[in-house]
Amino acid sequence: MIVLGIESSCDETAAAVVRDGREVLSNVILSQIDSHRPYGGVVPEIASRAHVEAMAPVIQDALSNAQVTWSDIDQIAVTHGPGLASSLLIGVTAAKALSARTGIPLTGINHLAGHLYSVYLDSTLPVASEGTPWLVLLVTGGNTMLVHYHSIDQATVLGQSIDDAVGEALDKGATLLGLGYPGGPEIEALAKSGAPAAYSFPRGLQGGNGTVIGGLRRELCFSFSGLKTALLYRLRDCSNWQEQGLGPNLAASYQEAAFDALLDRLERALVETQCQHVACVGGVAKNQRLRAKLDELSARRSIDLHITPLAYCTDNAAMIAGLAGARALAGLPPLPVDDVHPNLPIAI
Ligand code: KG4
Repeated sequence: MIVLGIESSCDETAAAVVRDGREVLSNVILSQIDSHRPYGGVVPEIASRAHVEAMAPVIQDALSNAQVTWSDIDQIAVTHGPGLASSLLIGVTAAKALSARTGIPLTGINHLAGHLYSVYLDSTLPVASEGTPWLVLLVTGGNTMLVHYHSIDQATVLGQSIDDAVGEALDKGATLLGLGYPGGPEIEALAKSGAPAAYSFPRGLQGGNGTVIGGLRRELCFSFSGLKTALLYRLRDCSNWQEQGLGPNLAASYQEAAFDALLDRLERALVETQCQHVACVGGVAKNQRLRAKLDELSARRSIDLHITPLAYCTDNAAMIAGLAGARALAGLPPLPVDDVHPNLPIAI
């Protein structure tokens, strides 16, 4: 079962070829970061125009790197949501046109479901099943979620951020600290020479247990907007922080507060769900400090921890093709690609 995956939900134009839902034969990602950097964030109009230019060559590279031709492809899988409407549209249009021209069946794939699945790429790990559900911490630039992953076809959101995603909080914190975009890796680099306990930043949504926010239990939800504001005030109150060389301590303490908030909810959900398998997926899962903290939790709680391989953490099409292949092999029908769905929920 060989699937060509296409992903264009935000600012990466990506195509990949994956065999049997697991073996990544090629994974081409054209990042637009340089085009968006001057603006400190993704500009949708620039993103969609760049997708138009990059889409055909990226798909061609994915096929040639995998050493396959169109006649080898059994299915085309495309991200149809959630994401930026104008960006999703380019991938969906390309996938529909290719399917019509070649006769290869098409399926839509949920971007967030792709992130959940990314931990199984290039591995022989047994996938989540009814008898053995997984607890997944999904941490990207647009989403922060705790997910009870029952199977590749069924997931329940236990908690999520009520404001900024953790990646967004790192990106905004980096801007305040005068660092570049995207901010996550910049903060990580600066934090390496700083002390995580130098400053006390808020860990988000403390107290109020037992109340419900948007149908989710408050104690399993996240909030990062207060963290960002705390950094803003700290910098305002110490205007010569740069001359004093306080950047590394500020970055390390800020990053630590964000990750402590993640670990606190994760551990709570772990105790409640009694899941033995825990995964961390998404762009922020690249962070070595977060990985170390997850390792410590897994040793302390004797759980089986899996973090998505570095190559598949940030947006990519291998996770889209992989999930499509796994769904087909499990006998699940293709999902219709009628339109783009910018707010598609994680329900898979
Ligand atoms: O998964 P992703 O490509 O985005 C979405 O699907 O939304 O992740 C992008 C996010 C950005 O916020 C970026 O700052 C963050 O992942 N990120 C990191 C690191 N590398 C990327 N955050 C912390 N440490 C990193 N090393």
